[in-house]
Amino acid sequence: MVDKQRCEHWEEKDMKEMILIIRPEKLEILKDILDGFQTGGMTISSVMGCGTQRGFTGENSVNQIKGFKTTINLLPKIRVEVVVRNELVEEIITEVRDRMATNHVGDGKIFIRSIDDAVRIRTGERGEAAL
Ligand SMILES: Nc1ncnc2c1ncn2[C@@H]1O[C@H](COP(=O)(O)OP(=O)(O)O)[C@@H](O)[C@H]1O
Ligand SMILES: [Mg+2]
Repeated sequence: MVDKQRCEHWEEKDMKEMILIIRPEKLEILKDILDGFQTGGMTISSVMGCGTQRGFTGENSVNQIKGFKTTINLLPKIRVEVVVRNELVEEIITEVRDRMATNHVGDGKIFIRSIDDAVRIRTGERGEAAL
């Protein structure tokens, strides 16, 4: 019975979480992109991170931060978590690359994972209806 119900509502629960780690100055563009796709809520955190350059760029290759030697230079980034309908994922990726790629290292990354279900606590709505 429960399995059958899950099958009937399969499309309504086809959701992905996109975790976008971006340059802080690109957050306004990203919010505009997500607004354009009428996604639901989002969660944003201020984080520190580095990619394959370990936080060092061509112009800033000094192996020091405030006098301390370091092997990994963590830079301020913004982490955006947004759960969306699966069908939006590729469109969001395309628009993010079109509008946010600078061609310089440190543009960021998008991680994508499957979400089994969502619940709006206030109403009890489930799946995509809860986004
Ligand atoms: N493998 C990873 N795991 C977790 N976070 C990552 C990873 N790669 C990148 N990040 C996050 O994404 C941010 C931007 O990465 P970026 O420098 O653009 O990646 P890369 O140098 O590998 O192209 C990093 O500061 C870090 O916060
Ligand atoms: Mg990098």
